[in-house]
Amino acid sequence: MSGNLTRKQQVQKTEEYIRKKFRNDSTGHDWWHIFRVRNMALQIAEKEGGNRFLIEMSALLHDLEDWKLNDKTNLSKTKKWLHKIRVSEIHTSKVLQIIEQVSFKGAGVENIATSIEAKIVQDADRLDAIGAIGIARAFNYGGFKNRPLYNPELKPRLNMSKEEYKRGDSPTINHFYEKLLLLKDKMNTETGKRMAKERHQFMESFLDKFYKEWEGEA
Ligand code: ADP
Ligand code: NI
Repeated sequence: MSGNLTRKQQVQKTEEYIRKKFRNDSTGHDWWHIFRVRNMALQIAEKEGGNRFLIEMSALLHDLEDWKLNDKTNLSKTKKWLHKIRVSEIHTSKVLQIIEQVSFKGAGVENIATSIEAKIVQDADRLDAIGAIGIARAFNYGGFKNRPLYNPELKPRLNMSKEEYKRGDSPTINHFYEKLLLLKDKMNTETGKRMAKERHQFMESFLDKFYKEWEGEA
């Protein structure tokens, strides 16, 4: 790419790149997940502040490399891309740090977001894993992995190691206890917490109804 791009152009190029890249993804990271996380992150930023350029770039790029899909991720694709569109070194290192801090690594492993930008993108990513969308994504992912919806004989496992979490073969309902229902207490920002609370309640009522229907009671 020749010449320097404005920030707006850098964001646009990144959006095009990611949109193409994730067109056919079926692992829960399709373009629309990225799209929602970007919009949610910018919406949270309206209330909470932070550098909008860093937030938007990190949100767009946050799933380009996934530790769950690639065994080792040193963010090389992300670095290469940022270099290609000539994002400055200082912004590149900030974006990389945000992305590193964003992904969840299983129930036993804490992820600490240090900057306001990382806090916001992490909140936006977590919000997309809960509520109605979160439920849909979980069953979509479970189907992709050929997992049962539910098995009353298999109890959820808390405090899994990163390896166990990656391998995970438990029914999709267990994922609610292993991850989704834990997210509301991990939110960073006030705005995120408020939204997570509502989405959490929706998942609780979904589960209630699910068990009732399972038992043929409702
Ligand atoms: P992200 O952090 O980008 O939301 P993840 O890679 O952790 O994404 O997961 C992608 C989607 O797949 C999320 O909605 C997540 O809840 C779902 N998912 C991940 N692992 C499981 C699992 N074991 N069972 C069901 N859904 C899962
Ligand atoms: Ni994500």
